[in-house]
Amino acid sequence: MFKERARGSEFLDRPDADPRLVEQGYQFMKVVNRIGGGIRVVRKFLEQELSQSMAADAATVLDIGAGDCDIPLAITRWADQRGYKVRFTCLDHDPKAVELAQDRIARCHCHTIQVVQADVFTYRPPDKFDYAIGSMTFHHFTDEEIDTLLIHLRGFVRKAVLINDLHRCLANYMVCVLLVLPLDREIRHDALLSIRRGFKPRELARRLAKHDPMAVAQRMWFCRVAGVV
Ligand SMILES: C[S@@+](CC[C@H](N)C(=O)[O-])C[C@H]1O[C@@H](n2cnc3c(N)ncnc32)[C@H](O)[C@@H]1O
Repeated sequence: MFKERARGSEFLDRPDADPRLVEQGYQFMKVVNRIGGGIRVVRKFLEQELSQSMAADAATVLDIGAGDCDIPLAITRWADQRGYKVRFTCLDHDPKAVELAQDRIARCHCHTIQVVQADVFTYRPPDKFDYAIGSMTFHHFTDEEIDTLLIHLRGFVRKAVLINDLHRCLANYMVCVLLVLPLDREIRHDALLSIRRGFKPRELARRLAKHDPMAVAQRMWFCRVAGVV
């Protein structure tokens, strides 16, 4: 069941997905981002990068498939406390995600996060970014699409791409089965499929090495795999 990445589509990716379910889906992702280590992976990556940086300007970060901007908002709060300057461009192709993100950002009066509705495969920004991150986004793509995307990002990401995704394994799957028990059938389906579409560190490392001999991929706490190209 976990030997190879699963295929299949998620209910929430459908253009006609019920907005109530979409909101429930993003609420569940908030839990996963906190107890499952999603925010922690991005924090650790940016801490390593920014603590060594001598740049006076803010670091610019493209968040691919940002959803309702849960991770950029949490990272912006952390960066403010640490005295790091970071500006996010949050990209999502789903208008419902973009609307939720804009609402959250307006409520926080956050001026360093910009939201853009676009498909990342055709997105051409006016300026280059220092970094791009994808949190639970790359598992939506086939291996071939990941190759295509990394080549595309090379055109406008200067320093590094962080792939922050789910570890494909039985332990994760079983924990998720318990966590999603009280949720709607569609969310249960999407959450469990997401783990089956996730990554194993070694296979991700092999794929990334095709793009960068210095690329790394490793297992992170608790249910995560992180790859850096
Ligand atoms: C599982 S959600 C993750 C949301 C957020 N990154 C988080 O971790 O809380 C994946 C997001 O990727 C977006 N997405 C999938 N394919 C995309 C594409 N080709 N271009 C832009 N966004 C995409 C979806 O709309 C969805 O909001």
